[in-house]
Amino acid sequence: MSKNFLIGIVGGTGYTGLELLRLLLLHPQVKIHTIASRSQAGQPISDIFPGLENYPLFFEDVNLKKLTACDLVFYATPHEVAMGQAGELVKAGVKVVDLSADFRLKNTTVFEHWYCQHSDPELLQKAVYGLTELNREAIKTAQLIANPGCYPTSIQLPLAPLLYEGLIETKGIFIDSKSGVSGAGKSLSVGNLYTENDENFRAYGVAGHRHLPEIEQELSHFADEAIQVTFVPHLLPMTRGIESTIYCQLKEGIKLTDIYQVWQKKYAQEDFISIRENTPPATKEVRGTNRCAFSAVIPQQRNTLVISSVIDNLVKGASGQAVQNMNIMLGLDETLGLGQIPLLA
Ligand SMILES: NC(=O)c1ccc[n+]([C@@H]2O[C@H](COP(=O)([O-])OP(=O)(O)OC[C@H]3O[C@@H](n4cnc5c(N)ncnc54)[C@H](OP(=O)(O)O)[C@@H]3O)[C@@H](O)[C@H]2O)c1
Repeated sequence: MSKNFLIGIVGGTGYTGLELLRLLLLHPQVKIHTIASRSQAGQPISDIFPGLENYPLFFEDVNLKKLTACDLVFYATPHEVAMGQAGELVKAGVKVVDLSADFRLKNTTVFEHWYCQHSDPELLQKAVYGLTELNREAIKTAQLIANPGCYPTSIQLPLAPLLYEGLIETKGIFIDSKSGVSGAGKSLSVGNLYTENDENFRAYGVAGHRHLPEIEQELSHFADEAIQVTFVPHLLPMTRGIESTIYCQLKEGIKLTDIYQVWQKKYAQEDFISIRENTPPATKEVRGTNRCAFSAVIPQQRNTLVISSVIDNLVKGASGQAVQNMNIMLGLDETLGLGQIPLLA
């Protein structure tokens, strides 16, 4: 099969950039045209990732002219990078998938509160939120995708259909999420050190995490009213994986079978959703895959529904979902290049 589409990656040395490489190097329909890193420009990728010795690619400085020759460009960069460059690419007809938060929040005042002033508010309004299973039709014709955050992906996939169908109360939703350390990216910080995380477990961002406005924006859309949730992330002493435990109140008369029925109706045909009926899923069940697995329990048959949802933050939570969106945008089979079996041990 010929590799028809030229792809650019900006931020090729980071964790999500590396994960894009892992997926795209074996993708049957795309070819990496340019992979950018400012710090490693001129170096072969195998100098940074020796395990990729069989792939003769070199990092280059960010070069908008070269990126313009691509069919699609991924931004695997910190916020503020894509918002300054995506406009030019989109104008040139290049499709863009941004893994950062630059195009996720539609309200610029909210964006400014959590991040910084937005430099391209016009383009922001044209961006399509890329939670694939919930927004597929809009993704098909999008020029620019705001790829969702990792925590929001693990939370919205189980919750959105329940809010849409009115099975749970819109108030009193508590979300307790835990992530592996790769979720914080590769840049150096004391909090990311092995010694700080090994044999350790802690909550962070309790007073307010940047994914909170994204979760609330999107859930409000499905509930058709403003939703506020309590969201508490935690750091786990492992490299990759997210588990979100979500507590919500059932509407009167709703049974567990109703919950599973709604999930089945929404997701039965989905390749990357696993609905678990018995035990809550573990992060290893989805490690290295583009899958989100979730289950529900009503403890002691009281009124609280407890959902357990797992993803690999670097795959369904970032680069895998980005590739899934790329496939749709390029008119390819959505699952191409995403057939990984989980790293079970
Ligand atoms: N890690 C996750 O699980 C995860 C999940 C979902 C979304 N995300 C989002 O995805 C983005 C990338 O995350 P990551 O974890 O891969 O970060 P990372 O490991 O820190 O990597 C960041 C990359 O961006 C490049 N970069 C930094 N500043 C740049 C600039 N001004 N211009 C061009 N390139 C620049 C860096 O390389 P050079 O400095 O060499 O250029 C590096 O390759 C972030 O916005 C993050 O919030 C991450």
